[in-house]
Amino acid sequence: LIHLLSTEGLSKDILTHILDTAGNFVSVNDREVKKVPLLRGKSVFNLFFENSTRTRTTFDIAAKRLSADVFNLDIARSSASKGETLLDTIDNLSAMAADIFVVRHSESGAPYLIAKHVAPHVHVVNAGDGRHAHPTQGLLDMYTIRHYKKDFSNLRVAIVGDVLHSRVARSDIHALTTLGAAEVRVVGPRTLVPSDMASMGVRVFHNLEEGIKDCDVIIMLRLQNERMSGALLPSSQEYFKSFGLTPEKLQLAKPDAIVMHPGPINRGVEIASEVVDGPQAVILSQVTFGIAVRMAVMSIVAGNEA
Ligand code: CP
Repeated sequence: LIHLLSTEGLSKDILTHILDTAGNFVSVNDREVKKVPLLRGKSVFNLFFENSTRTRTTFDIAAKRLSADVFNLDIARSSASKGETLLDTIDNLSAMAADIFVVRHSESGAPYLIAKHVAPHVHVVNAGDGRHAHPTQGLLDMYTIRHYKKDFSNLRVAIVGDVLHSRVARSDIHALTTLGAAEVRVVGPRTLVPSDMASMGVRVFHNLEEGIKDCDVIIMLRLQNERMSGALLPSSQEYFKSFGLTPEKLQLAKPDAIVMHPGPINRGVEIASEVVDGPQAVILSQVTFGIAVRMAVMSIVAGNEA
């Protein structure tokens, strides 16, 4: 693996290897991540052309825990605002001896463009491109599911909400089907579920109660209003009434079901506060596990594994 651009096409062996490698970075209490010298002398450039709280910060922490030198380019204050192209920016940062570019961009495909452009010894990790892919979120979601449920083969997983605009949903679906989840469901209003879902090997539901019934894992998605316009935009109250996850609706899932969310959450829109703060939510564990998973990804693409 030279770059990580998508979970699509990654084999079960590679996915498992990434999750196992992440597990090696986590100490006994399953949370603390050890500092290791695997990327000492390497330079990691975080290029976030779109806003981020979790992904950017955990990549920063992960690179530091691998002993790399980390540079967070402040895009708003960079010369991108003076008309410098994406690839000219990359060439200039490459001239500063970048080894890994971590890229988030609102345009689907931007990390692919960069990966094609850079020298063979430089690695690109997609930190979310448009509505296309968010592979490290997909991987940390798989790590979280494996942590709580041990094995994928008996699991019924529901991905609920604005699937149409979600790069996380696509990355999760590719990973879940490859890892052998028993059943993957997508649940959402007709306007927010894309038409190619059945061909991705998932069952489609347009009713929340039916969609989460007897599920082991529920992954809630935010309404991505920034990628919507006009008719697609439902009102928050209307949406919550039909597709918001409340404690009452959660009772339809298995009693030990876990509730996940990639964040940022919108309380009272796709999920009730009582669920976010309740005993079945593992949303903050996802964030913590993201550090070890991103350490695994960067060490594997750079060829410096534990
Ligand atoms: N889950 C996620 O990508 O969150 P951020 O946008 O805050 O990075």
